[in-house]
Amino acid sequence: MSIKRVLMVGGYTQAIEYAKLAENIHLTFIQHKNRLRPQDLQIADVVHMMELNDNPDLEEFIRCLHRIRPFDAVLSVTEFSLLTASKMAEEFGLLNTPVKAVENTRDKYKMRQQMLASNCNPVRFSVVNNFEEIVRFFQSVGGPIILKPIDGTGSKGVRLIIDMSELEEQKSRNNILFPCLVEEYIDGVEFSVETMTIDGRHTLLAITEKLTTGAPHFIEMGHAVPARVSHEEKTAIFDEVQELLDAVGHTFGPAHTEVKLSSKGVHIIETQTRPGGDRIPMLVDIATGCNIYKIMVEAALGRPVDLTATRSKAAAIRYVNANIGMIERFEGIESVKAMAGIREVRMLKEVGTYISELSSSLDRVGYVVAEGDTVEEAINRAEAASRRINVVINNVENHHV
Ligand SMILES: Nc1ncnc2c1ncn2[C@@H]1O[C@H](COP(=O)(O)OP(=O)(O)OP(=O)(O)O)[C@@H](O)[C@H]1O
Ligand SMILES: [Mg+2]
Repeated sequence: MSIKRVLMVGGYTQAIEYAKLAENIHLTFIQHKNRLRPQDLQIADVVHMMELNDNPDLEEFIRCLHRIRPFDAVLSVTEFSLLTASKMAEEFGLLNTPVKAVENTRDKYKMRQQMLASNCNPVRFSVVNNFEEIVRFFQSVGGPIILKPIDGTGSKGVRLIIDMSELEEQKSRNNILFPCLVEEYIDGVEFSVETMTIDGRHTLLAITEKLTTGAPHFIEMGHAVPARVSHEEKTAIFDEVQELLDAVGHTFGPAHTEVKLSSKGVHIIETQTRPGGDRIPMLVDIATGCNIYKIMVEAALGRPVDLTATRSKAAAIRYVNANIGMIERFEGIESVKAMAGIREVRMLKEVGTYISELSSSLDRVGYVVAEGDTVEEAINRAEAASRRINVVINNVENHHV
């Protein structure tokens, strides 16, 4: 097998580490200097540091690299670089997610519009430019609504509005950026779905159970694989996801789709043409033996890929809770690492960081990943471990000294 040249635009250590498990590849990694970790230099064959967001030079830089020595695949696993990677792949005549599908999913309004012409279960939505339009939408729905940025991520700016008084309060705080998207609030239990699409055929890799902070911000605090759903529920979830992926024109590549399941059926929350974040691919790998990053690299190189599960285990991630204030130190990390079934323990904030109230997933302090024979065992282990980690907070006055 000849060595193939793969370019990964943005991402994170685990994505390139897992991607490198694809045989006979030479991996070039472009990363922002603030996000590059020392181990990335060991994992990737070549690393370039570059601003990734709104950088007019990025595409031309990739073209230059391609001219010097052509790439065989150009990929990304991170929301803000998906479009760049797809555009470049399309320009170089390589396999990747169609630009159209990326555009239809990065923009949540476009995604809802594509759903209108499909067989997806309807979710009422609108783009609003001012408070009066929110009020009108709220009245037409006649129940709770969700307010969110059109191209948001990390639950930033996502708000549940239950009644008019809350809407008035939001108005007086004046912190909503218009235009934004409003949607009817879908009740039910939330799941995310990992799929891989090749030649327009979608394969279900895993359904993940999601734990969020709930209203009003819905920040993700944990995931577990496999989700505890019946065979019928699993079929209904995958059917709805396939309808959506067809509707947005997703014919190639991974997808991470968020859905809610209630007595009224499965409803789409959103989809992204990349693997799930929050260590979901690691959970899927532990539980099923499917390495999504490796699969996406091999599929993009046109190599045959095996999408069947090779094991039947379980895995869970739980984020660590912390009080508001300055982090003085972490306690319990070493003892947690030694606990049965713990696969990874990582703090995302450094000592000295000021922790404010959780308002997006970027505010989370750290996490624990556990494996188990059953999903209950994995969740119990991850929860017990995350509870044992004590984030010692300094008193607030010191912060202002
Ligand atoms: N229409 C809706 N009905 C019910 N809940 C919703 C709706 N839209 C969003 N939510 C809740 O808010 C969460 C965040 O919304 P969404 O996924 O659209 O934003 P995001 O910024 O992409 O978040 P993330 O990156 O964390 O997935 C969802 O996971 C879900 O729990
Ligand atoms: Mg989401």
